[in-house]
Amino acid sequence: RPKIAVLTSGGDAPGMNAAIRAITLACHSSGYSCIGFFHGYNGLIDDEWCELTPRLVNPTLQQGGTLLKSARCKAMLTSDGVKQAANTLYKHDIDALIVVGGDGSFRGMLELEKEWRGQLIGLPGTIDNDLAHCDATIGFATAVQTAASAIDKIRDTANAFERVFIVEVMGRHSGHIAFAVGLATGAEAILSFENCQPPQHDAILSELTTAITQQQQVRHGSYLIVCAENLWPGGASALQKALKERAAIDSAVCILGHIQRGGSPVVNDRLLASKLGLAAVEAVEQQQHMVMLGEIAGNVVATALNATVQDHKPVASFWLKAHRSALKGDLA
Ligand code: F6P
Repeated sequence: RPKIAVLTSGGDAPGMNAAIRAITLACHSSGYSCIGFFHGYNGLIDDEWCELTPRLVNPTLQQGGTLLKSARCKAMLTSDGVKQAANTLYKHDIDALIVVGGDGSFRGMLELEKEWRGQLIGLPGTIDNDLAHCDATIGFATAVQTAASAIDKIRDTANAFERVFIVEVMGRHSGHIAFAVGLATGAEAILSFENCQPPQHDAILSELTTAITQQQQVRHGSYLIVCAENLWPGGASALQKALKERAAIDSAVCILGHIQRGGSPVVNDRLLASKLGLAAVEAVEQQQHMVMLGEIAGNVVATALNATVQDHKPVASFWLKAHRSALKGDLA
């Protein structure tokens, strides 16, 4: 009977457990054998695995993190590492490997394909939502919810003290979290890769100081800046210092950090992961290979892995427009 393996790789994302569970249940109902490798690709290299059974995975549906653990695996950047990973898959007679992760994890699959003849299927799992060819990645909705709930609390205390707050959110090099969270919490400013490129930093600082000063003249209240990580040279604290030096503006900084990666997945992530997990096993049955399965307008769509690592998913222009009009409205 066919044997399917699964691993989770890269930054963990809420909903990865739901995907593992759906894959396991689909294998079970089709009579396939299903095993999981631990610690991302390291589990392939070190031959570290467990059998996946409905009894093991069922209680994890609501849990954040990943029961298979995760890692960024440097050895997959070497040909020896890739060969070792392929050997383990041959040793266990694996027919198909399903990888839940982001673009770095998919690059690992492109390498593995050179050494291993089984089927390779990817599922988009990252809080960053930076994979093209899917409406949302598994984990994005939960990360946004977590960050928005935290910022709502910050807003309360910021209002009480009529303070300027800089909140730094995750996203590595993409602004999906920053824009979703900023819009959902009514942030006065959203600084992200889409609207704040390096040469513009000085101009952005001028706009920001003017806007904060104007806002404080028109109405008292808080001023919330949501800033994407890796965006401002020196991070949120450097921006805080720059506001002080440029216009004597006092502000407080909150870096939300890894809190955004944890927690129970919201319902949308559980459903997305469950749908894609089942679809992955169906894709194996249909002999699909070297594809990522993503949800687009409610349908499961298979896209060549090559395209998913090359293409960039921009933040929807509608969101940028929504933020600009909110900014104008705020000063009216
Ligand atoms: O890719 C997910 C992510 O959380 C990014 O948003 C962030 O930049 C990165 O991982 C942090 O990685 P690490 O936990 O390895 O520091």
